[in-house]
Amino acid sequence: VHSHLEESIRPYIDLIDTLRSVGIQKDLALPTIAVIGDQSSGKSSVLEAISGVELPRGSGIVTRCPLELRLKKVTGGVSWNAVLSYRDKKSEIVDSSSVGERIEAAQIELAGSGVGICDELITLEVMSPDVCDLTLIDLPGIARVPVKGQPEDIGNQIKHLIMKFIEKQETINMVVVPCNIDIATTEALNMAREVDPDGKRTVAILTKPDLIDKGTEKNILDIVHNKVIPLRKGYTMVKCRGQQQIDKKIPLEEATQIERDFFQDHNFFSCLLKEEKATIKCLAIKLTQQLVDHIKKSLPHLNEQIKKQIWELRDKLKECEAGPPQDPKGAKLFLTEILTSFNDQIKCLSSGEQIIEDNL
Ligand code: GDP
Ligand code: NA
Ligand code: MG
Repeated sequence: VHSHLEESIRPYIDLIDTLRSVGIQKDLALPTIAVIGDQSSGKSSVLEAISGVELPRGSGIVTRCPLELRLKKVTGGVSWNAVLSYRDKKSEIVDSSSVGERIEAAQIELAGSGVGICDELITLEVMSPDVCDLTLIDLPGIARVPVKGQPEDIGNQIKHLIMKFIEKQETINMVVVPCNIDIATTEALNMAREVDPDGKRTVAILTKPDLIDKGTEKNILDIVHNKVIPLRKGYTMVKCRGQQQIDKKIPLEEATQIERDFFQDHNFFSCLLKEEKATIKCLAIKLTQQLVDHIKKSLPHLNEQIKKQIWELRDKLKECEAGPPQDPKGAKLFLTEILTSFNDQIKCLSSGEQIIEDNL
């Protein structure tokens, strides 16, 4: 990310994070990026590549609670550190290689040790010189058929959870779709289009370009060029580490180089580099800019909501602290009322009747 970009975006992201940290999202929807897609479409891989944080991954349902990743770029010799929080717990993580197991432990606490899901949020705040300023939320993947131990309606439960995030006007929906499936029938993309028919706040990420069938390259290029399912914010193609590369423990930095080489050498997709429609790096820059644009657009609305709540509170406050009116006639009436009620209370007291506490 270019430094002038950093300077101009940081205040917006800080503002939103500050509002979030005082719990304002309970009353107001704050701008954020929600990551959605089918199970194993590559959501965690993309997040991992953007954040540099190794997340729990694998086949089947791995992400079982919404995971908020707050990335903060820090400078001045500060090394990597992170804070994990959920419910009323907060703990520091200094060793980045233990993030995965810590998140898994948190998930087990919130959603049980089985294959169930839970809508309680886990937040991981990462401070590092090597990240972009972004806040993203990883969500459970959409599953079609329940696996052993899952309730019959798990598919609907997951969709319901996803909907809660993506229906908000303040959310940018980042839809992750593998290149090697029929994108038009993707449930995640359909859900995003349902809540955002004009595609104003939907970004699509095409993953696994190394796994496509030969002969489908031109069709996929048409998709990236916005000719098939047009989205205002468009498409970006990325290549993350495959299972083999993960098993071989190829580090993320090396994966970045492998990704670049993959696109440079590709007969059909090399053009996407010049068009800035490929690679994780390009995606991270685009997302940051889009999040900031989105925050800027949401600010007047946020401002209105906050003002409205302040006025409502002021009205309530007025009812509580109404003193004597300013005009002499009103003041006289006010005083008479107080004296009468005081008098009544004295009478009650002397006659031994119980006084209602409110009247005192
Ligand atoms: P999620 O369930 O959507 O979070 O998907 P994951 O990120 O866990 O990825 C599922 C599997 O796809 C993992 O084995 C990844 O290694 C693999 N994968 C993700 N992206 C790519 C890619 O670009 N190319 C290849 N070959 N495999 C990928
Ligand atoms: Na998975
Ligand atoms: Mg995942």
